[in-house]
Amino acid sequence: MSNIPFQIQNFEQYQQYYSQSVEDPEGFWADIASNFYWRKPWKKTLQWNFTEPDVKWFVGGKLNITENALDRHLAERGDQTAIIWEPNDPNDDAVHITYRQLHQRVCRFANVLKKYGVVKGDRVCIYLPMVPELAVAVLACARIGAVHSVVFGGFSAQSIADRINDAQCKVVVTSDGAYRGAKEIPMKAVVDDALVICPSVETVLVMSRTRTPVSMIKGRDRWLEQEEKYVTAECPAEEMDAEDMLFILYTSGSTGKPKGVVHTVGGYMVYASYTFANVFQYQPGEIHFCTADIGWITGHSYIVYGPLCCGATSVIFEGVPTYPDAGRLWDITDRHRINILYTAPTAIRSLMGFGLQYVEGKDLSSLTKLGSVGEPINEEAWHWFKTNIGKDKCPLVDTWWQTENGGIMISPLAGITPEKPSYATLPLPGVQPVLVDENGNEIEGNGVSGNLCIKFPWPGILRTTYGDHERCRQTYFSTYPGKYFTGDGCLRDEEGYYRITGRVDDVLNVSGHRIGTAEVENAINMHLGVVESAVVGYPHDIKGQGIYAYIITEEPLNDADLTRKDILATVSRIIGPIAKPDKIQFVAGLPKTRSGKIMRRILRKIAEGDTSNLGDTSTLLDPGVVDEIKAGAL
Ligand code: PRX
Repeated sequence: MSNIPFQIQNFEQYQQYYSQSVEDPEGFWADIASNFYWRKPWKKTLQWNFTEPDVKWFVGGKLNITENALDRHLAERGDQTAIIWEPNDPNDDAVHITYRQLHQRVCRFANVLKKYGVVKGDRVCIYLPMVPELAVAVLACARIGAVHSVVFGGFSAQSIADRINDAQCKVVVTSDGAYRGAKEIPMKAVVDDALVICPSVETVLVMSRTRTPVSMIKGRDRWLEQEEKYVTAECPAEEMDAEDMLFILYTSGSTGKPKGVVHTVGGYMVYASYTFANVFQYQPGEIHFCTADIGWITGHSYIVYGPLCCGATSVIFEGVPTYPDAGRLWDITDRHRINILYTAPTAIRSLMGFGLQYVEGKDLSSLTKLGSVGEPINEEAWHWFKTNIGKDKCPLVDTWWQTENGGIMISPLAGITPEKPSYATLPLPGVQPVLVDENGNEIEGNGVSGNLCIKFPWPGILRTTYGDHERCRQTYFSTYPGKYFTGDGCLRDEEGYYRITGRVDDVLNVSGHRIGTAEVENAINMHLGVVESAVVGYPHDIKGQGIYAYIITEEPLNDADLTRKDILATVSRIIGPIAKPDKIQFVAGLPKTRSGKIMRRILRKIAEGDTSNLGDTSTLLDPGVVDEIKAGAL
């Protein structure tokens, strides 16, 4: 029987359990993990070093996450709604799926995967709009021990192909098309383009959503609805080791191609669920609406796994916050009596701009808790959300975490931790943040800033980057030996509260989407006639950060505007529309040091419109280029 309760009730308990989690992490997490269903208990709670790195939680434990997310709820709440699906068009009926129905659908889908030869350990790529089948496909993979790799619907064929090839996926799950706001978007056609260069894929399962005409290749492509007719709704869950892979999720870094962050079954389940229950102070029966896409980690942890493992009702929204108008999220909140609303600062800032008339007349009285994630939330947006949506009665949690973390790391516990606008406040139990200076020395005390590291493993930490463990070591564990480096800058105020100030590496956060500058540069450089480019971020009122590209072309341009559009088309094709630069400035040269390194600091300043103080430019090979760039700044 466990001593430490699963859910913290007040601030004194938070302080007590936080201390315990630091003094005795293994005892703490063993107690928390005992709230789940394990086929076989673990033999050792934690085994770790941050050198290789090698982190294993609940060593030797056997389980299946879907038995925790589905089966164990059937007796008690089989008829409770597990998923509410809100379609893109508000005139279409919402769909309620009970835990029992979800269980059946997952088993059916799992049997289809099995029929096409998918076995434990095989990788399955999922490229779907926000429809229930997306959650079903994810859980179906987990049911049979296949590793899912969900690719966000906004990525291009090339990006899908890169991800499929990196993971050597055997099956792809997609739909004919997708509805997003007023647009109908092809999905299968994009997958078809990707598959031209993906020899590992044997089968494509296609769900019909828009019934737009699609090419279906005999022997490879199958209609999902058809396939589901011929299988049963019974599928025993595969017994998984706690450290077996659950999923791969690709995310951008400061160099090269996106890397496949790997999460494993046991630790991820415990961490996603524990953080869901505590940060949002989830109460049985509450309806949770996370507006993220399941294609990102937020959707994995707080639409699918966290809420379902806790027996909550989770909303899947197919559309966008501005369709048919800027009141859509409030309309959904009103109609479905949403209790917990978890969204991104970029959405709040955008909706703020449309004015309060879209909030008026909406009954938001069901809301009990609000959350924000993905990027720093500015004070104005924080107050707008708190006052106009939460009516000053709902706690608002600013949750800081990353794809690599599996779940929320630094955040208030709703209604328990004192809030401070724009502060993620305090670490969750089990999370040991430290600030370090450039030399890697820990900065002690309060009222200090530095680079944010975590010095002890938590159950949701990434285990590796798929197929390239050395890259995992290099990226996260080599900058400050013995610590996990987040890539974020951070301030710890006089009271010990944490405020994340943004990335300190070459990673951008555009509308909450993580994009590497190197990735965008590589895409731009593929364009005919481009010699070289440099990409930086600049502050953007709605998106948080915008993308600013400085580009050198081979020859003077006849029609700069057309070339700009051509380059945007290339970036869309190589990465996806989310990576399109907001501003493109054609330049004759880039500010380089004598050793050939681009001085991004200068480019960032110019992009920010702050050209008064560019700092020391004396080490530049040709300081003259700076004046030219300044003169042409957008
Ligand atoms: O810079 C931080 C920012 O988003 C990065 C992680 O991005 P991603 O892996 O895509 O995960 C996003 C959702 C979990 C972080 O390194 N970030 C995330 N949440 C916050 C944040 N920055 C400030 N405040 C936050 N609450």
